[in-house]
Amino acid sequence: MIFDPEPKGSRRDLFDRVEEIGKIKSLSSPITLVLGLRRTGKSSVIHVALNELSLPYTYIDLRKFAVDCGGGV
Ligand SMILES: Nc1ncnc2c1ncn2[C@@H]1O[C@H](COP(=O)(O)OP(=O)(O)OP(=O)(O)O)[C@@H](O)[C@H]1O
Ligand SMILES: [Mg+2]
Repeated sequence: MIFDPEPKGSRRDLFDRVEEIGKIKSLSSPITLVLGLRRTGKSSVIHVALNELSLPYTYIDLRKFAVDCGGGV
């Protein structure tokens, strides 16, 4: 679904990002950081790569534990 606010899990639903997905799939390092501006598709790229690798994985969405640190009064 194109307007789903959640990260995409399938390449069919993800526009472009072919290079980024390929890089993640070819990595052999134990730790990989995917950094970028908010809402630019970082989680989606990770999801798609992991799903295509068909390896067992655990995904922990830390937004569930987020503390509101906004500067509001
Ligand atoms: N290349 C893309 N094609 C289609 N939808 C996209 C693409 N990139 C991002 N989106 C959509 O934009 C939204 C944000 O994507 P996603 O959650 O993957 O980004 P993020 O960088 O992990 O965000 P955050 O910074 O909040 O963690 C989601 O609805 C996602 O489906
Ligand atoms: Mg994310």
